[in-house]
Amino acid sequence: MLEKLDSIGNQALKEISAVNALDSIEDIRIRILGKKGALSEVLKGLGALAPEERPKMGAAANEWKRKIEESLAARKAELEQARLDAELQEQRIDPTLPSRLLYRGALHPITQATRRIIQVFGRLGFDVVTGPEVETEFLNFDAVNIPKDHPARDMQDTFFMGPGVVLRTHTSAVQMRALRSKAWPVRILCPGAVYRCDNDATHSPMFHQIEGLWVDRGVKMSDLKGVLEFFAREIFGADTKIRFRPSYFPFVEPGAEVDVSCFQCSGGSPSCRVCKGSGWLEILGAGMVHPKLFELAGYDPSQVTGFAFGLGVERVAMLLHRIPDLRLMFQGDVRFLNQF
Ligand code: PHE
Repeated sequence: MLEKLDSIGNQALKEISAVNALDSIEDIRIRILGKKGALSEVLKGLGALAPEERPKMGAAANEWKRKIEESLAARKAELEQARLDAELQEQRIDPTLPSRLLYRGALHPITQATRRIIQVFGRLGFDVVTGPEVETEFLNFDAVNIPKDHPARDMQDTFFMGPGVVLRTHTSAVQMRALRSKAWPVRILCPGAVYRCDNDATHSPMFHQIEGLWVDRGVKMSDLKGVLEFFAREIFGADTKIRFRPSYFPFVEPGAEVDVSCFQCSGGSPSCRVCKGSGWLEILGAGMVHPKLFELAGYDPSQVTGFAFGLGVERVAMLLHRIPDLRLMFQGDVRFLNQF
């Protein structure tokens, strides 16, 4: 029996030192030391031995068991270390390599311009209000004194959503909502998307406006000028001048188109690309709120006056960033957007 034990033990130690796969370690343990393993099978014969032989045999078996376990553990540790070394070798990292390029999102130039403009007027006490983009024909046109036969209502310019419902063609549609829902004084700014049936390098069927409205006792045209001058200087630079050109909008009287002096050439260069040599850039429409609007809103026109203006956000953004084509704004091309 002793011989048998020795042969099993020696055989096991040989196998263990030769094994190269971690998984095989456990196989060997089960095969030799398991309940039905080779060693256990031999020990089953212990009962047939003379009683004085048994302890000797038992001790020898235990000694083999200990040796085999020790050898298994040592080989296992060796193999694990080898695997770790191999892994480290394979996945070697080079901390001196440059990191991967990170792409950071940025605000759209329209959003940036809108926020900047709101911030400037905010300093003069203007609150931001919004209105729906799907608007009633009444609030978009009738309520701002645009008569039924006005060409702006033509199918060419206006997207009709259904009878009496349009996509608002200007943020002036919010004026009557604001006047009706508040008592004066009213000093609001209404940014938002507007829609017109138009599409070329300088017109998009959807674009953005910011409407300003200031209604109070004694608001004068000179207040309008002062407010717009402040705005122009804050946005386009401290030397910017503004000029009013008489114009017509049904909801104001008098009405004006407002230009700012060209920030590129300061009005000095006939070959200026930004203002095309005129020295001026048209940026908004404005005027004194028509008394008819006050009547419609239930205000007494002998008590209050006010001014309104509407500016195109794309126009401002294009001027600030020298963007040549309006359509670039809406194509979502990151190569374009990343520049801002
Ligand atoms: N609503 C006008 C437009 O879209 C702009 C404007 C607003 C003009 C307020 C005067 C006063 O063209």
